[in-house]
Amino acid sequence: MYEQISHSVLNDILVRLEPEMKSKDLKHFYIRLGANFYAIYNLFQQLYGQRPDLNDQLYALVKTLALAYVARSASLKNLDFEREKEHDWFLHQRWVGYAVYCKEFAGNLTGLQQHLSYLQELGVNMLHIMPILACPPHANDGGYAVSDFRKIDTDVGTLKTLDALIANMKAREMLLVLDVVVNHTSDQHAWAIAAKQGDPYYQDYYHVFDDRRIPDIYEETMPEIFPETAPGNFTWNATMGKWVMTVFNSYQWDLNYKNPAVLIEMVDIILFWANKGADIIRLDAVAFLWKKMGSLCQNEREAHLILQLMKDCCQVAAPGVLFIAEAIVAPVEVTKYFGEDAINAKECEIAYNATFMALLWDAVATKNAKLLNHGIKSIPDKLERTTWLNYIRCHDDIGLGFDDLDIIRAGYNPKSHRAFILDYFTGKHPDSTARGIPFGQNHKNGDARIAGSLASLVGMEHALEIGDADAIQTSFQTILLLHSLIMSFGGIPLIYYGDAIGMLNDPSYLGNEAKKEDARWIHRPIMNWNDAEKRKVVGSIQHQIFSALKNMIAIRKEIEAFADHNNRELLEVDNPHMFVFSRFCAHDAKARILVMANFAQQPQLVDTDMLRNKGFLQHNPVRDVLSGEMILTTSNAIEIPALGYYWLNT
Ligand code: GLC
Repeated sequence: MYEQISHSVLNDILVRLEPEMKSKDLKHFYIRLGANFYAIYNLFQQLYGQRPDLNDQLYALVKTLALAYVARSASLKNLDFEREKEHDWFLHQRWVGYAVYCKEFAGNLTGLQQHLSYLQELGVNMLHIMPILACPPHANDGGYAVSDFRKIDTDVGTLKTLDALIANMKAREMLLVLDVVVNHTSDQHAWAIAAKQGDPYYQDYYHVFDDRRIPDIYEETMPEIFPETAPGNFTWNATMGKWVMTVFNSYQWDLNYKNPAVLIEMVDIILFWANKGADIIRLDAVAFLWKKMGSLCQNEREAHLILQLMKDCCQVAAPGVLFIAEAIVAPVEVTKYFGEDAINAKECEIAYNATFMALLWDAVATKNAKLLNHGIKSIPDKLERTTWLNYIRCHDDIGLGFDDLDIIRAGYNPKSHRAFILDYFTGKHPDSTARGIPFGQNHKNGDARIAGSLASLVGMEHALEIGDADAIQTSFQTILLLHSLIMSFGGIPLIYYGDAIGMLNDPSYLGNEAKKEDARWIHRPIMNWNDAEKRKVVGSIQHQIFSALKNMIAIRKEIEAFADHNNRELLEVDNPHMFVFSRFCAHDAKARILVMANFAQQPQLVDTDMLRNKGFLQHNPVRDVLSGEMILTTSNAIEIPALGYYWLNT
């Protein structure tokens, strides 16, 4: 958009920039800057308009973008063009993600390269490698406490070994997802060290306070993220003689985005990794970016403005790169991370669907889909050109992040229902064979989350211990049922490492100084490659899970209706155990798929009248595209097996 004020500011910036950019081909940079500058200027004004050095800061930002653009390789620039042309490319059903901790999965980056064929065998083509940047050996929160944003953790490799991995992934047409931990740094980061030594310039990178007056006011409204291991949101630093804001662990210092220098540094870091070849950047803990006294310090409007700025900047210098929002927040809040008041994404193109994840776990515990059916409706529609990451397990805990109102609508009492879910997954409930452990228990308000591997949470560990073949089968079916839903719901399914071979809880973390205090390590296993080999042994549990998932992935990729264009209709059937929806294709009415999932441990009947009236189940039998079987219906009912799932071509 053309607007006089911003245009004149841009002119001044470009005049200043010119001598530094001599003889560089900036044609496309200028085109994109022209298209984005009005938005960048406005956002910058809103965030930093009070500052006398506003225009100098803007100049510094634009220079950062120009330098990043110049540094971007010709092949990545070509990719930018291709993706601009095919701008919906990531909504396609062909993408299947997989998340790993590099060290635990493969030892190091070279080892990871050797295991790419395993991922490819499964059908995975998008790999999220959790943080691999330099971090302290112990106090590192699984790499989420970064001490140098441009160096690789020496334990896992070097920039060179990463380059080799990236080249190998590109050859395999696999997308790379890397983290940028935008909300905080390690207390060992150079900025924090300078701050500790008393440098006011770097103290302004963080939220530091001489005494408890302001921290105490913040504490009145800020929740605690790690109440057991890191209570409170501030840490006293004796060297500095000041309090510093530490929302997560005491060694993770929250960055102060009220200082534009922090934003510019972070944009530069994002572009550094974009230029290294990351296709997608996962922005960690984005809900926390802006702190305001008297608020939760989550989901603040300014946090969204910062993300919009980051997106606009990325569009200027590396437009082919996408953002994932890691915002594990209430359903009404999460869709805002795609952007508000817009048609297309204007913050992050992808977001974790934590609500769906938590609802799936609720359905596992209750063996019905009552809350799932209600809760899913509380997720507002998302924008075009945005998509979900649908997942069952990830490296973090399971929070029961559904709405109290939905719990009530489903016929439960919120407090006792949450207590039930917690008891169920921690194995305290008499009907439960789950082996989870509580995480983040807050004795002040009774909150708690759950840690545990997928297989252990669905009873596999228990079933194997007692050697009960039926119980093993039940857990196996549950694993597949859950995957059948993340593959078909709409979005990119994200498989968690170890789950495709049914890996159990790994208690070895208890013997590791760096890990033992954090129960999430129970589900961050050291990958058992001997067990992975058993995927080739017909009849083994590993073979059963792996081959079923491999088949599911291959079939997902062929179903056009699974591309994510907001093309889903939820169907309320007359059986509370069932979760049913259809996926359709805008241009091909016949390409519709009816997804039916039964959370009960007994077969269930569903009345077909409503479905037939809506044009489903017109043929008898009807084909389940997953198993290839023909499913017979009666004149008014269809039967779905215990913990069964169908993708019906109807
Ligand atoms: C994100 C990460 C989590 C980490 C936290 C703090 O939520 O997923 O593992 O502990 O950020 O960095």
